[in-house]
Amino acid sequence: MSVHTNDEPGSTADLPAPDGAVTVTLKILRFNPEAPDKAGWESFQVPCLPTDRLLNLLIYVKGYLDGTLTFRRSCAHGVCGSDAMIVNGVNRLACKVLMRDMLRKDGKDTVITIAPLKGLPVEKDLVVDMEPFFDSYRQIKPFLMTSGQEPTRERIQSQTDRARYDDTTKCILCACCTGSCPVYWADGSYFGPAAIVNAHRFIFDSRDEGAEERMEILNGVDGVWRCRTTFNCTEACPRGIKVTQAITEVKRALLFHRKAVVR
Ligand code: SF4
Ligand code: SF4
Ligand code: FES
Repeated sequence: MSVHTNDEPGSTADLPAPDGAVTVTLKILRFNPEAPDKAGWESFQVPCLPTDRLLNLLIYVKGYLDGTLTFRRSCAHGVCGSDAMIVNGVNRLACKVLMRDMLRKDGKDTVITIAPLKGLPVEKDLVVDMEPFFDSYRQIKPFLMTSGQEPTRERIQSQTDRARYDDTTKCILCACCTGSCPVYWADGSYFGPAAIVNAHRFIFDSRDEGAEERMEILNGVDGVWRCRTTFNCTEACPRGIKVTQAITEVKRALLFHRKAVVR
């Protein structure tokens, strides 16, 4: 890829841009804890190819326009779950947002708004404090619980039993769902959809013996009954997990006794 100088008006003059790039505006909600009075929207003009991911544009801003812009990312392939943010009002992973889907087709300027997830305290710019999220996750005991002697070989499971919780194994703990939940926004003491998804993954695992314990936890005041079945979480999940359905299945297991539903 050859590089030329982007001579668009604005702050990208004299900065590298790939051949064929168009300029888009990223409007980013900034927050610096050392200067909280200056919090607000800031716009950046960024060169963009249709093949770019939104994450590439954020990296461009940090590399060429403002090194203080703060955001998380790691894998850049929708696996690690670290770059969840609100993009044009929708919770997304920046690395999974293809710019060809964002560029305006009518020739007008493309403006993309980017803000941190809601419901979790903002530490700086697009970085939120994930500790309350992981605290809920830890509380539902997200690990296999068994009794008796360790088997000398793998724990056998039928394909049918494995399929029972396949959907909820796909969670990457990105918090897009929990960050879209109005109940969680209103009161962070609710476990939130991601924790319940991960409880579901073990409650419906035929090898696990901790279901009753987890369901007891989720039956409490901060558990599944707080969910209002608004489906925000399902729409937000970048892994396509049927989040609300998983929550409903846990509710049904609580109502009708786990074994009647699970087996
Ligand atoms: S379905 Fe339940 S958990 Fe999901 S966003 Fe709505 S209230 Fe929150
Ligand atoms: S259920 Fe989906 S949206 Fe929620 S944390 Fe897991 S991967 Fe992210
Ligand atoms: S950077 Fe890992 S999911 Fe986006």
